[in-house]
Amino acid sequence: MKITLVGTGYVGLVSGACFAEFGFEITCVDRDTAKIDALKQGKIPIYEPGLDSLVAQGIKSNRLSFTTDLKTAVKASNVVMIAVGTPSRRGDGHADLTYVYQAAEDIANAIAGYTVVVTKSTVPVGTSRQVAEIIKKTRPNFIEGIHFDVASNPEFLREGSAINDFMRPDRVVIGTNNAKACEILQKLYRPLYLIETPIVSTNPETSELIKYAANGFLAMKISFINQMADLCEKTGGDVQVLAKGIGLDKRIGGKFLNAGPGYGGSCFPKDTRALSQIAEQHGTKCSLIDEVSTYNEKRKSDMANRILIALTDHHAPKKVAILGLTFKPNTDDLREAPSLAIIPELLKNDIEVSVYDPLYFKGCERLNHAISFEESLKEVCFSASAYDAIKNAACVVILTEWNEFRALDMEKVCELMDNTVAPLFMDFRNIYRAEEMRKFRYYGVGKG
Ligand code: UDX
Repeated sequence: MKITLVGTGYVGLVSGACFAEFGFEITCVDRDTAKIDALKQGKIPIYEPGLDSLVAQGIKSNRLSFTTDLKTAVKASNVVMIAVGTPSRRGDGHADLTYVYQAAEDIANAIAGYTVVVTKSTVPVGTSRQVAEIIKKTRPNFIEGIHFDVASNPEFLREGSAINDFMRPDRVVIGTNNAKACEILQKLYRPLYLIETPIVSTNPETSELIKYAANGFLAMKISFINQMADLCEKTGGDVQVLAKGIGLDKRIGGKFLNAGPGYGGSCFPKDTRALSQIAEQHGTKCSLIDEVSTYNEKRKSDMANRILIALTDHHAPKKVAILGLTFKPNTDDLREAPSLAIIPELLKNDIEVSVYDPLYFKGCERLNHAISFEESLKEVCFSASAYDAIKNAACVVILTEWNEFRALDMEKVCELMDNTVAPLFMDFRNIYRAEEMRKFRYYGVGKG
């Protein structure tokens, strides 16, 4: 089976490398010549643990190749997957489908024999139908079911663990109205039968909605536990015990109940906004999701306020060390990261900010790029290590739960900090226990 993936972003690249590992012949296509040239040499444009070696293996086995020539790739393929970006449209939060529609037209122009055209990008309900319409419009002699079929096959990959999520998924969702197309897609996931991965087969509309509903629900779970954390703080409760207490109920489940500074990343914020828009467009409302988006934005600025209030309450000097910049560990992604909402608030209030992140530190190349798109980072002093950042700070804030922050030498931290007043330690990811932090004025999220 030959598969073309259009778009070598996160989804296209991870899916391509994993399908190649499954044994299929994969061509990844992108318009960006520089990116394709780099990929041919095994240079990966994103940070994802394990992806570089998987791509290298794919190239070596001749099962994974990269090209800018969409036409030749599509012509030779049985399945073509659209994995281009669907960014939030400026102003209204709607998913911008320009790249998807363009890809559909390009693919239509190139199809040579029966081809299943699959949307892998996260797309609003009705997009697969639109893709079919574009193909028919571009090739008026084409009959759906004979020359081509469309399907939706959303991905549920988490940054930082995308390869494992692809290889050991909780489920695979296939949305198509055509039995032959469904059978072909099921064959793609044949290697997962061994681990008994459930396959949900449905129509394209349900499949498209499943992706948004899943992300919406998970975002809601996080916002719910964050609100419970606030309640715990006011009442003397402990949100981690509360999460355990409710999570053991199998109807609720214990995952995604970690209170923190609000969710970020390339998916939850964008997809919750898009879900609200989709509902409105269809004359209904997802008011729970509307509230989740609003609350999550507010949560990030509330967390900045918490730092400001703590500093004022303790008459502490105004230097804060931030540990962690990325929206979560094991990724270099800063999109909608809480840090990018919190740091500007601190700077606005004349706080001196020093930052260390295992992937954004003094002297690293990646940092220049980040600074070029995020103005506020220019005013921050980046450090070469966590201990460097902590030097003379009155307050340490853990924003991302990177492994290297989980076992800090607290004697050393305490010594390095400004000790004119009791040092403040704000653990926004609850990686420490209050009992082991007696040297500090310790704040954990949702700890009354
Ligand atoms: C998410 C979905 O999990 C994935 O299935 C989908 O396809 C893409 O979006 P990702 O954005 O990579 O993946 O990260 P995820 O691990 O889901 O975390 C998202 C955000 O939620 C992070 O900012 C994280 O810190 C936060 N989070 C997560 C919490 O605050 N608490 C939790 O309990 C879990």
